Amino acid sequence: MHAELRAGTLRTGHDNPGSVRVRLGGMTLTEPAATLPARSATTRTVLMCRPDFFTVSYRINPWMHPQQPTDTALAVAQWETLHRTYLDLGFDVRLIDPIEGLPDMVYAANGGFVVDGIAYGARFTYPERQPEGPAYMDWFRAAGLDVREPAEVNEGEGDFLLVGDRILAGTGFRSASDSHAEVASIFGREVVSLQLINPSFYHLDTAIAVLSSDGPDANIAYLPSAFDERSLGILRELFPDAVLATEEDAAWLGLNSFSDGHNVVIASRATTFERDLRARGYNPIGLDLSELLRGGGGVKCCTLELRR
Ligand code: ARG
Repeated sequence: MHAELRAGTLRTGHDNPGSVRVRLGGMTLTEPAATLPARSATTRTVLMCRPDFFTVSYRINPWMHPQQPTDTALAVAQWETLHRTYLDLGFDVRLIDPIEGLPDMVYAANGGFVVDGIAYGARFTYPERQPEGPAYMDWFRAAGLDVREPAEVNEGEGDFLLVGDRILAGTGFRSASDSHAEVASIFGREVVSLQLINPSFYHLDTAIAVLSSDGPDANIAYLPSAFDERSLGILRELFPDAVLATEEDAAWLGLNSFSDGHNVVIASRATTFERDLRARGYNPIGLDLSELLRGGGGVKCCTLELRR
């Protein structure tokens, strides 16, 4: 805490506008009240997949309407703004080749979960996406990662989020709860199981955003109504300072965002979230991924973090 103590004087002039002045028996205490915490960014390595074959040809979540036409060129253009944003932030962005007939492959977050150079492969719930599992595992192997074939149904970083030393794990719609135990034994870390209850927020990364993943600053934002009571109790206890998202922002998949600890890439339509992030010293960067939203995914879904 920065406090300035001046005996017997009352300071005037150019004080910090965010400071509070307290008079203490002839002394004035000036301390910053609205000083924003300094956030530090760490450069990330991420895997992405260009949506060259993106469309909505089946329905496996409530966002998808196969009868409505999609604009693949627009999806690619919007994805390119995300790709460019990451490059501008200094990220090391790796690309996996898209495969024709796998329109959801753009949602790279579901391709696996990578921590400590170990890549836990995905085993998808729906047959439409099942071939993506081996495709991503092949890429991980070629990249020199230690690949673990999954025994249990799981959709990678869509349902597993690393926050500090812990792994938050979602279940209810996609990843089976048995995959949580599998992840715990592979990574040797504490796994916290969370139950999702709203089909529109079917992956954990649509209901929780990891804002800071390291150290004592580790923090998240979440949508309370997406969780059952038990899970909510756990989240409240573990993250008393969490940002609580509004229903409106969550409905633009605003929580489906990617943070480097300081810069948080979010859906530009999540305006309350944007304001809350700024008030806490983060730098929100809003993007429009409306075409990819039609598949039920946003910023984070298009991003798989590779942690060596
Ligand atoms: N259409 C895809 C699905 O339903 C969207 C995946 C979104 N990915 C995510 N990490 N939330 O599987």
